[in-house]
Amino acid sequence: MSTPAKTFYIETFGCQMNAHDSEKVIGTLEHEGYSRVEDEEAADLILYNTCSIRDKAEQKVFHRLNEYKRMQGEGKKFAVLGCVAQQEGNKIFDKAPFVSLVSGSASYRNLPEMLVRLEAGEKRITGLDDRQTEETFDTEFTARSNPHRGYITIIEGCDKFCSYCVVPYTRGKERSRSSESILTEAKRMAEAGYTDIQLLGQNVNSYHDPLGKKSFADVLAMVGELSGVRRVRFTTSHPRDFTPDIVQVIDAMPSICDHVHLPVQSGSSAVLKAMQREYTREWYLERIAWIKAAKRDISMTTDIIVGFPGETEEDFEETMSLLDVVGYDGVFAFQYSPRPNTPAVGMAETVSDEVKASRLQRLLEAQRERQRISYERHLNQIVEVMVEGYNHQRGQVTGRTSQNKTLNFTTSLPILPAIGSYLNVRVTKTFPNSLVGEAVSAA
Ligand code: SAH
Ligand code: SF4
Ligand code: F3S
Repeated sequence: MSTPAKTFYIETFGCQMNAHDSEKVIGTLEHEGYSRVEDEEAADLILYNTCSIRDKAEQKVFHRLNEYKRMQGEGKKFAVLGCVAQQEGNKIFDKAPFVSLVSGSASYRNLPEMLVRLEAGEKRITGLDDRQTEETFDTEFTARSNPHRGYITIIEGCDKFCSYCVVPYTRGKERSRSSESILTEAKRMAEAGYTDIQLLGQNVNSYHDPLGKKSFADVLAMVGELSGVRRVRFTTSHPRDFTPDIVQVIDAMPSICDHVHLPVQSGSSAVLKAMQREYTREWYLERIAWIKAAKRDISMTTDIIVGFPGETEEDFEETMSLLDVVGYDGVFAFQYSPRPNTPAVGMAETVSDEVKASRLQRLLEAQRERQRISYERHLNQIVEVMVEGYNHQRGQVTGRTSQNKTLNFTTSLPILPAIGSYLNVRVTKTFPNSLVGEAVSAA
């Protein structure tokens, strides 16, 4: 008699690193004989990959675990992974006794062994002690969800310890993969038909080749020159490690996407100091000036926190003024959320929730108007897109530009262009968050 297939269901929250970790976890589980199901009711094992970057994200986890409670009598097993798992550790078993496995991302290398223990009926299995590891989670069993565009994590963890942030505590020490291992994976992806490769890291440009061979810019070039690779993206760049050779390689290689996500967090040097970002407004703007001096039009996006302890109206105005000085094509802005274990949690919160909310709204409104204007520069341009999907109702094809902008377009071709194919499109209309156009030719 053959053993019945073991099934699992996985739910993922958080950043791209978490999304990609889940792809690796899925691949690992499948290699261990599990098959994935899309319906939690049908699963023997339910995994939950969590995020704790802000309080709301963490609350969601406990809310969801509460919902899972009703299924605990059905013989299902539960695993909590990711940043809340690492942060809360054994406390998760106390809050949700039906959970049998709690593991942070630094311990995923040990998943096969943890799964064996899980199947043997062990309770309270943990993977929580690897935050000081030098090892990265390299696996050949990654189950990528998209056959054309895929992630490669090149650096894990973070050593920057910004005063508000949980990541150094949840993801552990900064550690880079060897340039050879990156090349092997990128080549394998290119051979499998991936044309768009996104290099990932909490601070992707802090990359330090353990082989001592390649700088981050070299890694970009190494992947960008692989045959079959048409686009290389990278995220997130940290201003402290942003060097001019990154701009040079974007200028030199059309396959490196003309987009830099460079989180500033605040436009006020006083607030940046309290955040322990270890750069000033002027220092950040110098990096922006390098990007603007490039021959290519490099799109810039950022992350901003409003309402950090001590942020005055003047400090906030300095952040607002960055929108004009830099000219971002996208801003991800968040209200400051005090996080456990971080130095800032001990700082008196001087900005009320109302003021935080109103600053956030002012910022986003101002940015929307600027983006409306900045996107207008694309009107009548012919840009290359990768086809991502169709909107049959509107009769449009959805594509993505090298600058990571959405371009919805029509085509007079009798057959719709294939997902993953590249086309040149003339931009006929612009919005603050997307472009509209007409296909011109295959690219
Ligand atoms: N490593 C990246 C950011 C990773 S976290 C960097 O240093 O730029 C993603 C974003 O979440 C951050 O850029 C920040 O804007 C936001 N964030 C992190 N901690 C936060 C907190 N405690 N409250 C509100 N936003 C936070
Ligand atoms: Fe968090 Fe700062 Fe590290 Fe970014 S650099 S992940 S904000 S500690
Ligand atoms: Fe969230 Fe952890 Fe990513 S806290 S944003 S999943 S690094």
